[in-house]
Amino acid sequence: MTKRLLPAVTLIASLFFVHAAVAGGDVASGKVLAYTCLGCHGIESYRNAYPSFRVPRLGGQQDEYLVAALRAYRNNKRPHPTMQAHGNSLSDQDMEDLAAFFQGEEAVLDSVTKDSVGGLEAARACLACHGEGGDTVIPKPATLSGQQQSYLVHALNQYRDGRRSGTVMSVFAATLIDEDIASLATFYSKQAGLHTSPITE
Ligand code: HEC
Ligand code: HEC
Repeated sequence: MTKRLLPAVTLIASLFFVHAAVAGGDVASGKVLAYTCLGCHGIESYRNAYPSFRVPRLGGQQDEYLVAALRAYRNNKRPHPTMQAHGNSLSDQDMEDLAAFFQGEEAVLDSVTKDSVGGLEAARACLACHGEGGDTVIPKPATLSGQQQSYLVHALNQYRDGRRSGTVMSVFAATLIDEDIASLATFYSKQAGLHTSPITE
């Protein structure tokens, strides 16, 4: 290969990798579709009325997990009337586009390590998937770092009581007592990570 060709090849290769990172989703189309979502997910203090918890942060969440979550609402594997209605109205391509938009340029990964877990015994069991790998687990583990505290409590309760099922999480949540759930949720919510996607034009 001649020296003159190299820059062009590098450019094409880098375009390919940027594209691969968003798994087929189109960010611009996702941004348009996200307009209705941001009425709830774009407002930092927005709460679900009953039970009361803050809506999950989606900014930086991994695209594969976002698509899996939207499919779970569509398949009635996760209960929530509004989100099920959204799940039903979105095509597979819409979901990928939305996921690419919310994930942004790069997925935020859990930053939790053996050292940062410190004395929180209950969190050791989470490390294998949330933090140190987990890439081989299907569906992909969600990023927890920076998520809303009250939403994490809600999600863990749903796995524990079976309202959210069909994944490995049921097994791990089953062993948790209320105090563990509260401290795990506080611990993860304080890590740098996910953010509330701002409402833009
Ligand atoms: C009326 C407010 C509201 C609107 C509008 C809304 N959501 Fe949600 N969303 C919620 C709430 C509340 C939850 C948590 C529901 C539960 O208990 O599972 C949620 C959960 C989610 C989750 C799961 C997050 C996780 O960490 O598992 C995703 C993904 C999501 N919404 C995407 C969207 C998208 C995409 C749109 C627009 C097409 C949208 N939402 C519109 C309120 C809303
Ligand atoms: C074997 C791998 C594995 C282990 C260990 C594990 N998780 Fe998970 N976790 C997952 C997967 C996969 C998902 C996505 C499941 C789904 O789609 O509902 C998930 C999802 C979650 C969610 C939902 C996030 C959201 O945005 O709704 C929470 C909260 C969570 N895990 C907390 C924990 C905690 C706390 C521990 C330790 C006690 C733990 N997990 C251990 C694999 C794991």
